[in-house]
This record gives sequence, structure tokens and C-alpha cells, in this order.
Amino acid sequence: GLDKFVLREARGSSVESSARLDRVCFPFIRSNFPSILVIVDVNISFQATFKPPKAIRGGIQICFPQLGSHGVLEQHGFARNQFWSVDESPPPFPVATSNCHIDLILKSSQEDLKIWPHSYEFRLRVSLSPRGDLILTSRITNISSDGKPFQFTFAYHTYFSVSDISEVRVEGLETLDYLDNLQSRNRCTEQGDAVVFESEVDKVYLSAPSKIVIIDHEKKRTFVLRKEGLPDVVVWNPWGKKAKAMPDFGDDEYKNMLCVGAAAIEKPITLRPGEEWLGKQEISAVPSSYSSGQ
Ligand code: BG6
Repeated sequence: GLDKFVLREARGSSVESSARLDRVCFPFIRSNFPSILVIVDVNISFQATFKPPKAIRGGIQICFPQLGSHGVLEQHGFARNQFWSVDESPPPFPVATSNCHIDLILKSSQEDLKIWPHSYEFRLRVSLSPRGDLILTSRITNISSDGKPFQFTFAYHTYFSVSDISEVRVEGLETLDYLDNLQSRNRCTEQGDAVVFESEVDKVYLSAPSKIVIIDHEKKRTFVLRKEGLPDVVVWNPWGKKAKAMPDFGDDEYKNMLCVGAAAIEKPITLRPGEEWLGKQEISAVPSSYSSGQ
């Protein structure tokens, strides 16, 4: 399925035995694709900083163990700013995945334990299906020996590339309740028959259906996002004023991106020692004749 994907050369960054997996990209480091990022047309800012510890502005951010600034940790948690290792022998997957994949692993470091005193193993499988879907499967296990459970929130903060944000329509979120981060996380209810964009948006839709569609009329393309184990959906676009204030984002880049990502936010996940949680997001890009009823 690789030929169905947009292959972009990593801008100057090479990937060796470890991978920086913040917002970017999926380093397919097997021999065929050294230093190439495989991306289903996700958006990466031209102003993005590629040097750690700043997370890269674009791609799919792995937000763990906290989303946003609601908690004691850094914004969106520490996972997006860490180096991940290739997991050569992951335990068997409880769900079927494609043969074209790479497994990555993140474990609690001594530094993390100082700010978040819980031992975990975070395994991420990035798969490409034969028909060209990008599937991310996260498995998080509590490996603490102190007998204590821990809680976390999570999101695949996905920067989709769109032709004109004003023309984009998101279906599947209408009539849902959401938390509005622009209004002190007030709980509101979405009105209208689809979500459209005409100003800054920073929302968490609650208990969303397992399929969301993002329709880009101008490109005649629809992204279909499917999710499992992740009840909520984050939607974010900074619009012009906030874009100007962001040093790693071009002033007009908000017109060509939209973050929509599967998440678990309202009800944090609780894991007892030895327990594993699984959260999956699948993205397909299909021609725009697609209708959400299909
Ligand atoms: C959203 C947050 O999910 O992500 C916003 O609710 C934040 O507050 C946005 O601005 C982008 O976050 P960051 O840390 O990548 O700039």
C-alpha cells in the first residue's frame, strides 16, 4: 500500500535507531525507506522547529499522559517530546493489523518519573493497510510495582492538510456536547448539520461516533477517521490572530490545516498494575464523491 501514500523526504532529519515521534511523522526506517517520512497528507508547518525539545508543528502528535494544559504536566504531556525506540519484538497484538508496520516503544525515564511517578510501557504500532489507510494503535501498560493505578488522558492530535479551511466541513460531530477550551472548558452543544469553520476553534467533542469525516470540497477529497477505545474528538484551528502569535507557525498556515483527532479526555483512562489499554485511530483518504452514509 505504500505507493498510495504521499512520501515526503524528511527535511534534513535522518532517523536511526530511535525516532522522535512528537507531532510528526512515522519514521519508516526499514531498509527501503531510510529517512523518509510516510504521511497521509498530514500538514507540517513550514515554520516548524525540528530540533528537540520543541515538538514539531504538524503531523500526528501523540499526546500522553495529558492533553492540553489541564494538569500538572507540560502542554499535551511529555510523550510528544521524547525519543522513541524501535520495538523489535512486541507482544502479540490483540487486534489484527497490516503486515506493513513498524513498532515503537516509549518507557518511563528517570526524568519522567520525577514529574509523573508512574511506570508505564507505551507501545505504538504504525501500520499501512493494503488499501492505503494509516492506522495507529497505541497500547499502554501499567508496569508499576507499587500496586497503584494511574490515570491519563490521550489524543492523536492530527494535523490534516486542507485546501481552504473556510470550505471544510466535518460530519459526525453535529449535535454532540463539547468542551470549549476558548470558554474555560464550558460544556456546550453543537448546532447545525455539520461543523464548519469561520474563526478560531478549540473544542473537545464528547462521546463521538466511531467514524468522523472531514470533507475538503476544493480538493474533492474526504478524510475518514475511524477510532476505537477513544470516545472523544479534539478539533483545533488557531485562526489568524493566534497563528501570528505562534513562532513555529506561518501567519496564513491556518487556512490549510485542521486538527481533528481521536482522544480520551473527559473521562481519563485508569490502569491498574498489569492492565493494558488500547486506543486506535485509522485514517483513509477517499475521493469526495464519498458520502458519510457509506
Ligand atoms: C489544542 C489545545 O488541543 O492544541 C490548544 O486545546 C493548543 O490550547 C493547541 O493551542 C496546540 O497545542 P500546541 O501545544 O501544539 O501549540
